[in-house]
Amino acid sequence: MRTQEHRTIYLNEYRVPMFLVDHVDLRFELFEEGARVHSTMKIRRNPDSEDREARLELDGDSLTLETISLNGQTLASGDYEDKGDKLIVREVSDEFSLTIVTWIEPQNNTRLEGLYKSSGMFCTQCEAQGFRCITFFPDRPDVMARFSTRIEADKALYPILLSNGNDVERGELDDGRHFVTWEDPFPKPSYLFALVAGDLVEKKDRFTTMSAREIDLRMYVEPRNSEKCEHALDSLKRAMRWDEEVYGREYDLDIFMIVAVDDFNMGAMENKGLNIFNSSCVLASSDTATDAAYQRIEAIVAHEYFHNWSGNRVTCRDWFQLSLKEGFTVFRDSQFSSDMGSATVKRIEDATLLRTAQFAEDAGPMAHPVRPASYMEITNFYTLTIYEKGCEVVGMIHTLLGPELFRKGSDLYFERHDGQAVTTDDFVKAMEDASGRDLTQFRLWYEQAGTPVISVEDEYDAERKVYRLNIRQHIPDTPGQRNKKPQHIPFAVGLLNERGEDQPLKLDASENEAPTERVLELTEAEHTFEFHDIEARPVPSLLRNFSAPVRVRYAWTREQLMFQMNYDSDGFNRWDAGQRLAIDVIQSLVHQPSETPIEPRLVAAYGHLLTDSSLDQAMVAKMLQLPSEAYLLELNDAADVQGICEARTRVLNHLALNLREELVACYHRNGDSGPYQPTPEAMTRRTLRNSALGWLLQINDEEGRVLALKQFREAGNMTDQSAALRALVNSDFEDDRARALADFYQQWQHDPQVVEQWFSVQASSPKAGGLDAVKALLEHKAFDWKNPNKIRAVVGVFAGQNLINFHARDASGYNFLARHIVRLDDSNPQIAARLVAPLTRWRQYAETYRHGMKAALESVRDKASLSPDVYEVVHKSLAD
Ligand code: TRP
Ligand code: ZN
Repeated sequence: MRTQEHRTIYLNEYRVPMFLVDHVDLRFELFEEGARVHSTMKIRRNPDSEDREARLELDGDSLTLETISLNGQTLASGDYEDKGDKLIVREVSDEFSLTIVTWIEPQNNTRLEGLYKSSGMFCTQCEAQGFRCITFFPDRPDVMARFSTRIEADKALYPILLSNGNDVERGELDDGRHFVTWEDPFPKPSYLFALVAGDLVEKKDRFTTMSAREIDLRMYVEPRNSEKCEHALDSLKRAMRWDEEVYGREYDLDIFMIVAVDDFNMGAMENKGLNIFNSSCVLASSDTATDAAYQRIEAIVAHEYFHNWSGNRVTCRDWFQLSLKEGFTVFRDSQFSSDMGSATVKRIEDATLLRTAQFAEDAGPMAHPVRPASYMEITNFYTLTIYEKGCEVVGMIHTLLGPELFRKGSDLYFERHDGQAVTTDDFVKAMEDASGRDLTQFRLWYEQAGTPVISVEDEYDAERKVYRLNIRQHIPDTPGQRNKKPQHIPFAVGLLNERGEDQPLKLDASENEAPTERVLELTEAEHTFEFHDIEARPVPSLLRNFSAPVRVRYAWTREQLMFQMNYDSDGFNRWDAGQRLAIDVIQSLVHQPSETPIEPRLVAAYGHLLTDSSLDQAMVAKMLQLPSEAYLLELNDAADVQGICEARTRVLNHLALNLREELVACYHRNGDSGPYQPTPEAMTRRTLRNSALGWLLQINDEEGRVLALKQFREAGNMTDQSAALRALVNSDFEDDRARALADFYQQWQHDPQVVEQWFSVQASSPKAGGLDAVKALLEHKAFDWKNPNKIRAVVGVFAGQNLINFHARDASGYNFLARHIVRLDDSNPQIAARLVAPLTRWRQYAETYRHGMKAALESVRDKASLSPDVYEVVHKSLAD
């Protein structure tokens, strides 16, 4: 068992490891009732460690120790101490060999950390600290060892036996058993270890690298999924090529393997040469996967592949440095996705996620810097801040240096640190050394939590033809951090003249060739910038392309926003102006009588988007989406959920009623264009058509109903079928809703990924997803408390996306969530801790909600023997 004392780990307590492991030789005997793990480690004292007398301490978790021997001599019980989470060997020399045999029970492992079973196969998840659930080991990323792994199992049940590196030997054993031995030539931290054993089909492909090496690509899936591999393999090849072209990075082993498993705590894992994926993030066919799934798969396959350099070849010194690999790798996969589709649309999607979820995290009790200074349970720190804000921080370096110097910096970083375990500071240093820029102040982005607020005021001096921007920055206090220092913020701006054109930005009156866009570098609490030769008061285009993860405050008028929506040359700001206009209109309606008129220019603006075919349709598809309920809530202090959701629904209904004809025309104009293609153009058509359908059903339009029913029955792909289902489920056509749900389940009950969609369409629906309906889903035979995807699809989606029902006034939604967190805490603490998130920001809600949320958190806190995972989140959320 894991210890129940709750200890905080601090970055400033980091010490180099006292012992290093040069080589580890593993032998796994896999059986139905458990697994025996033999580990022989070549260990030596770390010459860099000060303590030359230290005893050896290895990490362990849920292990049964069978034997231990030092240099071939079995140790007597007095020579070592097994404390459960630590194995201590008292007397060791400077260099020795240690063999440990442990017994583990993968079939009973519901935590899904270490070695476990998922639909009959054995698989592993070792990040962050799962390797210690397999054997005793110095389980920290700065101990890098060469691994060789022999797997023995029943040949009929487990014909496929995989681990990292190259398969060097295989053979038959007695009793119908067989073995395969794998050797990984690259030293790696234990968190990158992987093992898979199962009855899987193999899909083969190949890739020729830039230096003409042939790489075997292999994907392993359960036989029923054999037709769902093509998209992942195509995505992988695109990612491999892209990393060569953009970063000069070539793949280093002869084999690259991908495995799909149904039970997985996260999206996927970058184990060296053997990536393991959650089925929902890798398997696709056009009849079962939506466009969103196709895009997610391409991005995640690329992300895990990119880790081979940013994470595996150069890894983290300790877990405080997690964003070293995650922030940089998310940045790399975002660049990749931009290059594969529309860069502006990708930027809009990234900024939406950041502003909705990361800003919320950064304003709540779990706020932490991109490089945290302390943690209790590291798994709780795989956060939007580490990943998404970490990506933005790398992106700002890219903006400040420009693409050429950034590439020089990444080359230097990989060259300098290949094979090492390093820090975020080493990354910044490489960027500095390659570019000659001083990033001292910039480093505060890694140290200070909280979202900077940029307040902008402007002034126009008609006589001098000078336009002045006054810009202040302020970083709010966060737990444990007050009175922060100003950060180095790249703030991209443009100025639109009366015709909506960009004009030269002369910061100096004598300048004659000035650029029309500038990245202003904010470094002080307050700056004033003067732009010369400005003929008339311009409309400022602020924070173009979302050049920094900050909130901007400026007193936009609705005229200005309409103008920007139409003319801004920056696509991101054209979209953002539309969002700000919609937010302003929605907020102004909260708690107003239902006859309060709705801004007519909003209807005009949306009408224009729906009818002007000269506009970039991918952008139109984005601009037509109203800001989400979650984002609207995030923008409010003392948020009134019912009031905000009602106001948003009023605006949505008003737009749909007034633009009914345009929506029907949009639906038909973007009609089905034949066989499914996951191209950006085809996806845009489907998005437009399906948003139009969603709006029509939102107002219970009869023509929309007929279109939806037809599309539901005749759709040639899952995007269209599930969009029709969703539209019907969110309408008041109750009979159609019930029938469509029943038919859909009947048709797809054998496909877990589709059943997950079926669950989440219902759990997210304000109309179909009342608490009783959601409770009924938990009783459904397809629901499984052991499968994280099912839990997320019902409980997670209800609490995160069905705000009106989750925040029911009687607190029933909160109590429901709390009860299930408590029940999951025993079986899967990582998943339980993630489910606490919707309750953590209780202080931000209006009085009526606050109480119930807090009480629900307290009920979780009061459970006996909480896991460290849930303990940390709940206690930090309730702390003053
Ligand atoms: N390194 C993985 C990624 O970002 C994240 C991950 C996968 C993970 N599985 C996990 C993190 C389990 C913690 C626990 O691609
Ligand atoms: Zn990652």
